[in-house]
Amino acid sequence: MNNAIERTPELKTRLPAVGTTIFTVMSGLAAEKNAVNLGQGFPDFECDPRLVGAVTEAMTLGLNQYPPMAGVAVLREAISAKIFKLHGRKYAAASEITVTAGATQAIITAILAVVHPGDEVIVLEPCYDSYVPNIELAGGVAVRVPLTPGTFRPDFHKISAAITANTRAILINSPHNPSATIWSEADMLQLQEILAPTDILLISDEVYEHMVFDADKGQIHQSAVRFPGLAARAFIVSSFGKTYHVTGWKVGYVAAPAAMTSEFRKVHQFNVFTVNTPVQYGLSSYMADERPYLDLPAFYQRKRDLFREGLAKTRFKLLPSEGSYFQCVDISDVSDLNESDFCKWLTSEIGVAAIPLSAFYGDGFDQRVVRFCFAKKDETLNAALERLAKL
Ligand SMILES: Cc1ncc(COP(=O)(O)O)c(C=O)c1O
Repeated sequence: MNNAIERTPELKTRLPAVGTTIFTVMSGLAAEKNAVNLGQGFPDFECDPRLVGAVTEAMTLGLNQYPPMAGVAVLREAISAKIFKLHGRKYAAASEITVTAGATQAIITAILAVVHPGDEVIVLEPCYDSYVPNIELAGGVAVRVPLTPGTFRPDFHKISAAITANTRAILINSPHNPSATIWSEADMLQLQEILAPTDILLISDEVYEHMVFDADKGQIHQSAVRFPGLAARAFIVSSFGKTYHVTGWKVGYVAAPAAMTSEFRKVHQFNVFTVNTPVQYGLSSYMADERPYLDLPAFYQRKRDLFREGLAKTRFKLLPSEGSYFQCVDISDVSDLNESDFCKWLTSEIGVAAIPLSAFYGDGFDQRVVRFCFAKKDETLNAALERLAKL
């Protein structure tokens, strides 16, 4: 008889500050209360059946074994051609583009590739929740610089002041989750000027690149690719999940100069090694048609406008939504609760889930603003608006 005592050894956590996130809490509450879930950022509608067909065809053709480590060549070439067409910079498919398991893996891989223990990395808060834990896993120190409360514009005085001899990298994100703001050409030029005399690398999270609204007012996505002084030091990160309504497929990519890509791939190789083959082939043939991503701003702008029109009838104060699929509102005329309690109340009592902006700050900074996601069927948005009309 085996008398061994079953005992899991005590663990010393690598990430003591990480617990259950508000996203999990809100989604659980939304399900329990049967609320309309405008909290988590993913579409509740199907992707283009042609894309599913393209992936199915790749599987049927037997493209089911390991692809090359950096991604299948045809997909890297399609990505390179797209970036050149949109932004005018040529990335070599062989040495400067890597296909990743979504943007999340791209970002942690870039950080692990370049951040050494003790290095500082500037993050602009509020920010996507993986950035800071990623930096900490690399042994780096996250230096949190706030975007200007209220407008969420970058404060270049504060960014400059945060730079030290130990700064290894800065992470930016436009269009921005959660604030739905976009960086202007002037913003990018200013960042370029600040970084020019330094060896600071840029990680530019551009997962919402194809969701920039109000083209009639001259708004475009100011990718870091367009600014040679930035592109030469940048990991450009994007996500097919966002662009093609397939967040669950977890495929994205990184474009970066060859020397940076070489370091990136050293980590990528021993991290995921590579990304699933048929989805890569499917994406590459689907990308031959540029309409799906060129039509995306109009597709989401219509949803944004529908949602904003409904919200305008409530006592929420609407913040601008320039890009991404988010809409933020100021709750101060609706409730005295803090953001987090308000979101719980809104989910339980009104039946609509939202996310507090405080979840995107290390210190839980509360400015009475919450985020809704409008990447939903019109009927879902209308159902939410009907409930919110009570406010
Ligand atoms: C700003 C930002 N970066 C990265 C990601 C992750 O993208 P992926 O699903 O491709 O890993 C998200 C997803 O919500 C995001 O909002």
